[in-house]
Amino acid sequence: MLQRPLHLLDGVLLAPKRVPPIVLAVLAQLLALGLCSLLAWQAQAWGWPLSLGAALLLQSLCAVAFSYVLRMPVWWLLMQALFVPAVVFSQSLHFAPAWYLAGFVALVLVYWSTFTTQVPLYLSRRQVWRQVGAQLPARAGLRCIDLGSGLGGWVNFLARLSRDSHFQGIEAAPLPCLIGKLRTLFQSNAAIAWGDFWRHDLSAYDVVFAYLSPVPMPDLWEKARREMRPGSLFISYRFAVPGVVPSAVIELHDLGRTQLYLWRL
Ligand SMILES: C[S@@+](CC[C@H](N)C(=O)[O-])C[C@H]1O[C@@H](n2cnc3c(N)ncnc32)[C@H](O)[C@@H]1O
Repeated sequence: MLQRPLHLLDGVLLAPKRVPPIVLAVLAQLLALGLCSLLAWQAQAWGWPLSLGAALLLQSLCAVAFSYVLRMPVWWLLMQALFVPAVVFSQSLHFAPAWYLAGFVALVLVYWSTFTTQVPLYLSRRQVWRQVGAQLPARAGLRCIDLGSGLGGWVNFLARLSRDSHFQGIEAAPLPCLIGKLRTLFQSNAAIAWGDFWRHDLSAYDVVFAYLSPVPMPDLWEKARREMRPGSLFISYRFAVPGVVPSAVIELHDLGRTQLYLWRL
């Protein structure tokens, strides 16, 4: 019996590692461009040349339609609709090309591989760090790590709070990593490394903290189960592991009613 409707693209898009959305986005735009060019050419042949506004509208509609067929998440549809009109609009502003290059370089330095990891930079707050501090096991010499440490706020705060434990951060994006390194420069019990946490062994840590996105959580849980020692603590802020009941959930009582999820390995 069929469990769910079959989809033309099931084999491609439901493969174990999904195609990154950026690849689908470019594909949808190119397909839309091809179809719109054909339609515009045909309209011209019939003596009804398309205005720029009509062509942009057609491109946006086709891009949304192809993105929908390619099963892109809903929020991508809006971006897909606005992309080409935004490009055309920006051309009309006549900025020097160097500004676009500078903007691109700045985005790369801050967001780095977000287009594949689907984990952008957004920061947790002091209230979260305090709660994590309250959950640390009550003994000296703990080794703790923040996977994707952003600007190093978590590492910096907890290293000051618990001077007899060691706090490590690992961050892939160059600029946040540099800022984190500078913030922890004079803290003997803190360090930030530039790198990919998927390549970092978690067996040395008593506490592993992650504030990422829903996308990596299933794989991260597998990594934690494989590498973390029995008795150690895995903490995720905001994002649960689908299908795995946490050992504890802590309500933050903030505006977003966010939660800390704790798993005792
Ligand atoms: C949501 S931010 C959290 C920042 C910080 N932990 C905090 O709580 O404020 C996630 C960070 O993880 C980083 N990141 C994503 N994937 C990564 C990876 N595979 N290795 C290292 N850092 C990664 C991103 O660059 C981003 O800075």
